[in-house]
Amino acid sequence: MNKIDKIKAELEAFAIQNADNLEQFRLKFLTKKSELQELLSEIKNVAPEERKDFGQRVNELKQKAQQLFEESRAKLEFQTSKSENLLDVTRPSTAINLGSMHPISIMMNEVCDIFEKIGFSTVSGPDVEDDWHVFTALNFPEEHPARDMQDTFFVELHPDILLRTHTSSLQVRTMEKQQPPIRVICPGRVFRNEAITSRAHCIFHQVEGLYIAENVSFADMKQTLLYFAKQMFGSETKIRLRPSYFPFTEPSAEMDISCNICGGAGCALCKHTGWVEILGCGMVDPNVLESCGIDSKKYTGYAFGLGIERMTMLKYKTNDIRLYFENDVRFLQQFKAAGER
Ligand code: PHE
Repeated sequence: MNKIDKIKAELEAFAIQNADNLEQFRLKFLTKKSELQELLSEIKNVAPEERKDFGQRVNELKQKAQQLFEESRAKLEFQTSKSENLLDVTRPSTAINLGSMHPISIMMNEVCDIFEKIGFSTVSGPDVEDDWHVFTALNFPEEHPARDMQDTFFVELHPDILLRTHTSSLQVRTMEKQQPPIRVICPGRVFRNEAITSRAHCIFHQVEGLYIAENVSFADMKQTLLYFAKQMFGSETKIRLRPSYFPFTEPSAEMDISCNICGGAGCALCKHTGWVEILGCGMVDPNVLESCGIDSKKYTGYAFGLGIERMTMLKYKTNDIRLYFENDVRFLQQFKAAGER
């Protein structure tokens, strides 16, 4: 009985704080050779009148030891798993490197925003086109050089299918679907079989504009394009229209803006002229209106096509068009702020 009391006191005083303690506890109380287990085999030697009481107490003690062992083990396991998963909420975070909008996308969105403010809506269409939408409906004569393999990428197995060389195909697609009044702006990628240099690429981007209604005049077009130039390049910007030729507009013009790098004084970018060309435009040829099912006696309109790379180079003062296609992150990252505007 004294031995039971002694072991019980030891058991109660035993502190299990780590895995080592737990093992010591097991050795001391739960193995076959431990004092407690030995007491169990003593039961049969105890005098019969005390045996029942003795056996009960030893068994209780054994159960207690077992229970303490299990509880302590579970507690320790929980603690270690908790400390392994522990989150240090005060630890400084590593910065997440977010991408940015591509300068070409930024510029296309900006152009569309400016025209949307005066009632144009944005539409898009396929990069892979057919001859009708890129050339025939746009009044290109059969022998026009733009139809030549040297300028246009054709699909080898199907000479009627090609990569669009300009977004003017969207004029046709819009007029085929919709009667005037039409006011659309069409951003897109275009392809031409050209040698790649610092100023030219075989892939580039345009934004096409089309306005068809009754009594639309060349003066309306000029005023709209002046509004655009001032919104895009600042209120000091001047425009100049030079006579030009496109099969689908008559009369046709090319528009220059005063060089925003030298302010018109003359520099390398504007080749010392003070002016930089940014778009082609003109009054939609009646033949085109008729091809698309629009009454050319009732309606007139204008169209224009802006070169996005040229404008982006001007706006962000870069001198090599290839930078926009190489996608070097060191270059692209510089447009982060512009894209968050
Ligand atoms: N499509 C012409 C080009 O690619 C630009 C243009 C568009 C001219 C609309 C006049 C009217 O050069």
